[in-house]
Amino acid sequence: MTVPAPLDVVVLAAGKGTRMRSAQPKVLHQIAGQSMLSHVLSTATQLQPRGLHVVVGHGAKTVQAEFGDAPIDWVLQEQQLGTGHAVREALPKVAADSIVLVLYGDVPLISTATLQACVAAANDGLALITAHMQDPAQLGRIVRDAQGSVERIVEFKDASAAERAIGEINSGILAAPAELLRDHLSRLTTDNAQGEYYLTDVISSCVEDGIAVVGLPVDSPLEVAGVNDRVQLAELEREYQRQQTENLMRAGATLMDPSRVDVRGQIDVGEDCLIDVNVVFEGRVTLGANVRIGPGCVVKDATIGAGTQVHAHTLIDTAKVGDRCSLGPFARIRPGSEFSDEVKIGNFVETKKAHLGTGSKASHLTYLGDAQIGEQVNIGAGTVTCNYDGVNKHKTTIGNDVFVGTNTTLVAPIELADDTFVAAGSTLTSKVEPGSLAVGRARQRNIPGWKRPTKKDQPERDK
Ligand code: UD1
Ligand code: MG
Repeated sequence: MTVPAPLDVVVLAAGKGTRMRSAQPKVLHQIAGQSMLSHVLSTATQLQPRGLHVVVGHGAKTVQAEFGDAPIDWVLQEQQLGTGHAVREALPKVAADSIVLVLYGDVPLISTATLQACVAAANDGLALITAHMQDPAQLGRIVRDAQGSVERIVEFKDASAAERAIGEINSGILAAPAELLRDHLSRLTTDNAQGEYYLTDVISSCVEDGIAVVGLPVDSPLEVAGVNDRVQLAELEREYQRQQTENLMRAGATLMDPSRVDVRGQIDVGEDCLIDVNVVFEGRVTLGANVRIGPGCVVKDATIGAGTQVHAHTLIDTAKVGDRCSLGPFARIRPGSEFSDEVKIGNFVETKKAHLGTGSKASHLTYLGDAQIGEQVNIGAGTVTCNYDGVNKHKTTIGNDVFVGTNTTLVAPIELADDTFVAAGSTLTSKVEPGSLAVGRARQRNIPGWKRPTKKDQPERDK
């Protein structure tokens, strides 16, 4: 067995993307909440390349800024003289013993498996990824000889009517040994309809030299589809979502309508989860077995334990939820919320940095911020933790088996010890000792025979 050669990936991303009609560089437009370029780079990273070179030009600074300190070798192509020129600009950074894999920043759905096959086929020659398309539009056509071997690629603008009738297209993705590529790229001319250095001319040049060229067609043309406008962007978004929801179903989740669930991140599901319509998952989400997510929920960066039910229109962001909890409808679970098992958070309840122990409940109309709450606590409707004094945030600490009556205002910092009971309508500002009843409200006073005020110069109103 031969040891595979080291790999260098070159991603072309210098083009303008005029048809996007956007102030933003094309490769920064997003699929599933991540830029197209970052999809390509994560796929490329799976191949563990020695170098990851990204050729930028239009909006170069904006593109680079988007990736911060990521280990990327940025190659500036000042003038976009064609795809061949773009690869040539990157080659000085590539060692002689490498295989070079060329990817496009605007072809986001390419799979790792396809790229591995391409690289593996490029040890002794050049390998390129092709696709058979019903409507090959303006893409480059693959011209094969009588034996079916790839002979050359002809660009649409340079093609004859017969060549335009060919259904096999060039994806643009190819792999070849660095020295081979360097040699043939140096021979390119701009003698073509667009006056550009075509990367595709390397193919005929290799064939003429008797170098092996393999064309590897993909099964699904969408895998190599490029994005030129927002209509194509939306098509690929749908295809990406179709793949994600298919994975969810294969992993054991029932989706009421797979076309109405979007995954913008990574999600793991246990068996028998049920996901209703119009649900969006973002970031890193883990659902235990038998979790039910109601319609219209957004779940971001969260772990949700087995058997928990998230009712309609609930938003969860950066939270840990235990088993058999019930959240919503219309609840907002904000960052730092952590719930043990069997916690209930009902309608119009907002939590932020709130920890609730087993069996505790806040069933309606409540704000719990910066709160540490024990087990079997009942938080009445309209309870508000006043955690912010206009400058600093303060903590509310509630022990076990506490009952907080309706419409209670807890002015933090404050502590309600175990087994305390708060009378409805209280405003509390200081610690309540274990087992005590706290009443923090004005006493009711009834004034018999009270006359309601009347308007001046008007007779007393009818009773
Ligand atoms: C290219 C191929 C065509 C193929 C199609 C697939 C050539 C000559 N043609 O055509 O056979 O079917 O892609 O989508 O290669 N880019 C640069 N610098 C440049 C020019 C382009 O970085 O100077 C980048 C673009 O940003 C884009 C990619 O290269 O990501 C492809 O360029 P584009 O102009 O879209 O090539 P096509 O005409 O579509
Ligand atoms: Mg293109």
